[in-house]
Amino acid sequence: MCGIVGAVSARNIVPVLIQGLQRLEYRGYDSCGVAVYRSGGDAPGLYRARSTARVAELQAQVAADGLEAGTGIAHTRWATHGAPAVHNAHPHFSHGAGADASSRPARVAVVHNGIIENHDELRAELQARGYRFDSQTDTEVIAHLVDALYDGDLFRAVQAAVARLQGAYAIAVFHKDEPQRVVGARAGSPLVLGVGQARDGLPAEHFLASDAMALAGVTDQIVYLAEGDVVDLQLGRYWVCDRSGRPMGPEERPVRTVQAHSGAVELGPYRHYMQKEIFEQPRALADTLEGVEGVVPELFDGQGDQAAAAWRVFKDIDRVLILACGTSYYSGCVAKYWLEAMAGIPTQVEVASEYRYRRSVPHPKTLVVTISQSGETADTLAALRHAQSLGMRHTLTICNVATSAMVRECALAYITRAGVEIGVASTKAFTTQLAGLFLLTLALAQSQGRLSAEEEARHLKAMRHLPVALQSVLALEPQIIHWAEAFAQKDHALFLGRGLHYPIALEGALKLKEISYIHAEAYPAGELKHGPLALVTSAMPVVTVAPNDELLEKLKSNMQEVRARGGVLYVLADADTRIRSEEGLNVIRMPEHYGVLSPILHVVPLQLLAYHTALAKGTDVDKPRNLAKSVTVE
Ligand code: G6P
Repeated sequence: MCGIVGAVSARNIVPVLIQGLQRLEYRGYDSCGVAVYRSGGDAPGLYRARSTARVAELQAQVAADGLEAGTGIAHTRWATHGAPAVHNAHPHFSHGAGADASSRPARVAVVHNGIIENHDELRAELQARGYRFDSQTDTEVIAHLVDALYDGDLFRAVQAAVARLQGAYAIAVFHKDEPQRVVGARAGSPLVLGVGQARDGLPAEHFLASDAMALAGVTDQIVYLAEGDVVDLQLGRYWVCDRSGRPMGPEERPVRTVQAHSGAVELGPYRHYMQKEIFEQPRALADTLEGVEGVVPELFDGQGDQAAAAWRVFKDIDRVLILACGTSYYSGCVAKYWLEAMAGIPTQVEVASEYRYRRSVPHPKTLVVTISQSGETADTLAALRHAQSLGMRHTLTICNVATSAMVRECALAYITRAGVEIGVASTKAFTTQLAGLFLLTLALAQSQGRLSAEEEARHLKAMRHLPVALQSVLALEPQIIHWAEAFAQKDHALFLGRGLHYPIALEGALKLKEISYIHAEAYPAGELKHGPLALVTSAMPVVTVAPNDELLEKLKSNMQEVRARGGVLYVLADADTRIRSEEGLNVIRMPEHYGVLSPILHVVPLQLLAYHTALAKGTDVDKPRNLAKSVTVE
């Protein structure tokens, strides 16, 4: 989704800005742009380049223009207000008010992540003051507002401007009259300050970014800005003020050394990142479980500002509330089955965007569990903060990014080690989340006195076997390619599962629709006759997740209901189920039966099915239309 990079330096900063955008590219965007203060040449002032193509095209534009500068801001945009078009791409300028404004040089440049909810009202007010709007974006109001409030001090103008904004924002702003200064502010969207070094006798350079990753290789000295902060970047110095305008010292806004990954992940022998990430799952699981010698609460000890000891928290809770979005939500749905059956803990799973606005009944002894690959999903963060505001202080995150807001803001954490996930459709993050959630189930079962030493040893052994088990599931790929050829001809698909595998059916349907654009729905198989059976014809493939568990016989009856209506079944059956391929019934046999860990294995053929169907249809697998990797706006 949207990304920000900004810099104030004594050297030419354009390559750093472009490289920063390249590092953020994988999150999904539909236009990009850069604005700088150019001091040399005939007409010093603000210049910008914008593109609705890739960042590489923007790079070519700035190279052709010979754009060089020490101060600049850059952006990747994922359209919310206004179509993906050059005139809506950031940075946005303000040329001031008045009929002749557009003939005057630009005065203010702004990039923005988030959504300004009162932009209509601000737009009307600014138009009444003579400002002309060139875009349909909510962002442009910020440029004009800063211009209207500017009295020679950009920091003061931004402080006054953000006081008028409602909604979520991370912004970076600069003004032509203060060419060596960039001011940033955040509320509801992430923004970090990168502290650079003084070198070659030049004063220290400073950076802004929506993610420390954008600054990898530039600086690893990062200050995480807090909600409501405004930050001032100048050559050789910076300062941060909180929401009330109070200056923040190094105690309150410490500089942290952050080993952000560079984002430069090689594809190696793979055609797509999604394919690579599916095949990385054995290693991702092995890494996630590395060092787990036994089930101990310390595995979940906190790492952020609110860090707590897990054993204390586990003793004080009697229920679990899971909050997440997308694929992460489905991993939470699997965990509900585990937590209730194995740890005996009542568990509720909620889509974060619903929970945050619902009047719910808080319970102080709840363990609030957020699940997030990125740790920056706006709705999940807001849901966490909402739960905290209701007095629920026991919070835990299962997260793939150790430096994320989610980890910093939760009392406890389990960091999955899936590695960087680039494909928009999440795969290895999901299976490693499930591994983390299974460990959490064991830890809570133990704290409830429901896990014997023998059971602990047996479950850990099964978990350690997962990477090997996954390898043999991946070997099913040729059979899945065969299925995918048939799916690529279809417009709709139905996925069925029961119990622990109902969320796996949901995840399989999500994967297929995300990347192949085939309409797919999932149902608990027992619900078939309450609606979806009406859709079953020979044109509707029905995928059935059929592990050999206590619900298998029930599932077989559901499959008969489909066959009797001429539906074509595609069944992922365990080795020891006696379901055989015949006319209208296609079976792929999983190599082993995996017991309660089975969801981690059964999801993999469904990932491969979505991937190969998309491949057969020729869609953009890693960057599906309209979707973003990291959804940092509501
Ligand atoms: C987006 C991504 C999904 C992801 C979801 C939640 O929709 O495309 O792959 O599952 O956000 O993201 P999170 O980072 O919180 O897991």
